Amino acid sequence: MRILAFESTCDETAVAVVEDGRSVLSDEIFSQAKLHAVYGGVVPEIASRCHVESIALLAQRAVETAGIEKKDIDAVAVSYAPGLIGAVLVGVNFAKACALALDRPLIPVHHIRGHIAANYLAYPELEPPFLCLTISGGNTLLVDVRDYTDMRILGSTRDDAAGECFDKTARVLGLPYPGGRPIDLISQGGDDSRYVFPVAHVSGNPYDMSFSGLKTAVINLVHNAGQKGEELDRADLAASFTKAVSDSLVPRTMQAVRELGRDKLAVAGGVAANSRIRADFQRAAEEAGCRLYIPPLKLCGDNAAMIGAQGYYEYLAGVRADSSLNAYATMDL
Ligand code: KG4
Repeated sequence: MRILAFESTCDETAVAVVEDGRSVLSDEIFSQAKLHAVYGGVVPEIASRCHVESIALLAQRAVETAGIEKKDIDAVAVSYAPGLIGAVLVGVNFAKACALALDRPLIPVHHIRGHIAANYLAYPELEPPFLCLTISGGNTLLVDVRDYTDMRILGSTRDDAAGECFDKTARVLGLPYPGGRPIDLISQGGDDSRYVFPVAHVSGNPYDMSFSGLKTAVINLVHNAGQKGEELDRADLAASFTKAVSDSLVPRTMQAVRELGRDKLAVAGGVAANSRIRADFQRAAEEAGCRLYIPPLKLCGDNAAMIGAQGYYEYLAGVRADSSLNAYATMDL
């Protein structure tokens, strides 16, 4: 079954063709990051307008690159929540028009479910049940994936997402947006014990996380140093900051692996591209005797192939939308 899939929840316009949920026939992505970089973050209206300008061309290209014709498409899937509402609306409306024009079923896909499904593309043998930590620019969730469409949130951030914390830290260090990758690069070889940052523990749920204190600690350190005219070592700071993020994520996730008795752990989302976090999870999973799944870098960030993958399993579960489908800024998993 071939699914034409759309993703437009933030600043990536993406269209893909995915076969049977596992095989990527085409994966077209236009990242708007450079357009937003001058503002230090995503400007919602610019994002929406840019999606409008590029989505039709990308759809055409996705079909051509897949080596198929439009009539070979069996269904249309779209990421309909959560995200920047104007941005999501563009993808939803375009997908609805495609489904109508092609006379094919329309499948709504939750964006985070898509991130989790990126692992199905990278690892054909992966099947639920497994645990998945989803760490992206807007969300940080620890999810028990009981079946392809049956998921339970074990924990989440109480405030900022891990990616947001990377982006704000990068901004105070004068690094470009999005800041995760630049921080990853400058932290290589840095001393991660040079600066001590807080690792928050929140009461109530052992799997919940918090990143706003860490963000504030970095901002205060940089501002105080600036006022005193002191030089900070950016490599050491980036490495110490990344260690604090990793120390918030890895032990909690491994605690869930132990307590739920899962032998498979997946990590997904843009922050899963971080080299330190990947290495820490690799080590922790080996120690716990648990198999680790982390997608290649291309599938960590927003893409439409992951929406096509999850769309397939939603389709098998009977999930359909009609032409009244709307876009949502927030939505439960
Ligand atoms: O999943 P994603 O592309 O978009 C959302 O759904 O939010 O994630 C984007 C986030 C940004 O905050 C970006 O800075 C972060 O992922 N990111 C990274 C790295 N590459 C991207 N964070 C840490 N290290 C990286 N190498």
